[in-house]
Amino acid sequence: MAIKELKDVDCAGKIVVIRQDLNVPMKDGHISNDKRIRAALPGIKLALDKGAGVVLLSHLGRPTEGEFDPKFSLAPVAEHLSGLLGKPVTLAAKIEDVKVAPGEVVLLENVRFFKGEKKNDPDLAAKLAGLGDIYVMDAFGAAHRAHASTEAAIRKAGVGCAGPLMMAELNAFAKVLDQPARPLVAVIGGSKVSTKLGLLENLLDKVDCLIVGGGIANTFLAAAGHNVQQSLCEAELLDDARRIMKKAEDLGKMLPLPVDVVTAPELAAGQTATVCDVDAVPAGAMILDIGPKTVAAYEKLLADAATVVWNGPVGAFEFPPFDKGTRALADALASDKAFVVVGGGDTVAAVEGYGLADRMGYISTGGGASLELLEGIKLPSVAALESC
Ligand code: 3PG
Repeated sequence: MAIKELKDVDCAGKIVVIRQDLNVPMKDGHISNDKRIRAALPGIKLALDKGAGVVLLSHLGRPTEGEFDPKFSLAPVAEHLSGLLGKPVTLAAKIEDVKVAPGEVVLLENVRFFKGEKKNDPDLAAKLAGLGDIYVMDAFGAAHRAHASTEAAIRKAGVGCAGPLMMAELNAFAKVLDQPARPLVAVIGGSKVSTKLGLLENLLDKVDCLIVGGGIANTFLAAAGHNVQQSLCEAELLDDARRIMKKAEDLGKMLPLPVDVVTAPELAAGQTATVCDVDAVPAGAMILDIGPKTVAAYEKLLADAATVVWNGPVGAFEFPPFDKGTRALADALASDKAFVVVGGGDTVAAVEGYGLADRMGYISTGGGASLELLEGIKLPSVAALESC
């Protein structure tokens, strides 16, 4: 269903409330990565350029609702945003304190300080929507939360619409999930099948090839009869893994498993790495990365792909030398002609750490939200926007 967009709404002389995801990582009271603040800038600038006054809403962390806690204050975000925008960004502690005129920007304190946010309280939602004439949902990273500021406020708004970040994210995932250029390959890594079971099942219906990596691949290897020794593996999910492999076979989809792996006695940096075939994992060892034969096979599959979605590293990339598989896939995707969407905190961190982010088709700002989209779940904010 169609979603109204901020770019098409007349904002001159109006007050525009924008829900952003300014939930940035903090260290010792300082912002350690401002990517999400930078991603919010186009929406804010668009509203200002259209002649509006802007009220910004966001959460930060997971404070106890109804209590102010300086640790979760948006004060450092207001200051940083002010520098990026080149204009003052006033922080309002309470809803009643918000006063804004066209051309000005006010940031309301952490919406999770207000009682009712997480319960999607209609009264709080009405107050938030009532702060302006137009309510813009641009917080893709929080779009999977049915909270007052991400769901009910959109429905309560006189005019509810999506901001440019929200639309860019939805469009990138639509390019993967709805009528993608084929072949479509998904690379799904990470530690646990249990957190991605629904996603694997949903993706299998859509992709031509599903590459599993990390602990997820270990569970599939065990399900296929290999002895993964002390590797991270979910024994209780072997039947699910077998069912997914059978479904892949029935649908004629590729679900390649590693043929060789990198192992070590334990997960720690600087361990001696041993490369072996999957049926020769040394006793007591852990699988910590894919091996060179597997890398070569996956590189070939990725080179042939027209669309790729990647969520989750294929090895313990934070612990060199177990970063080689993830690095090799990132390099392959960076030089690929395919449209590549990268999502998930670890995967994005890896790609950015290698300096390859600019060479991917789209880097998602959403963790949980992007996982739910890949799982085929309608995000509550999207359903609300479609109702506007
Ligand atoms: C995120 O960091 O994934 C989003 O900001 C959502 O945060 P939450 O998981 O605390 O709702």
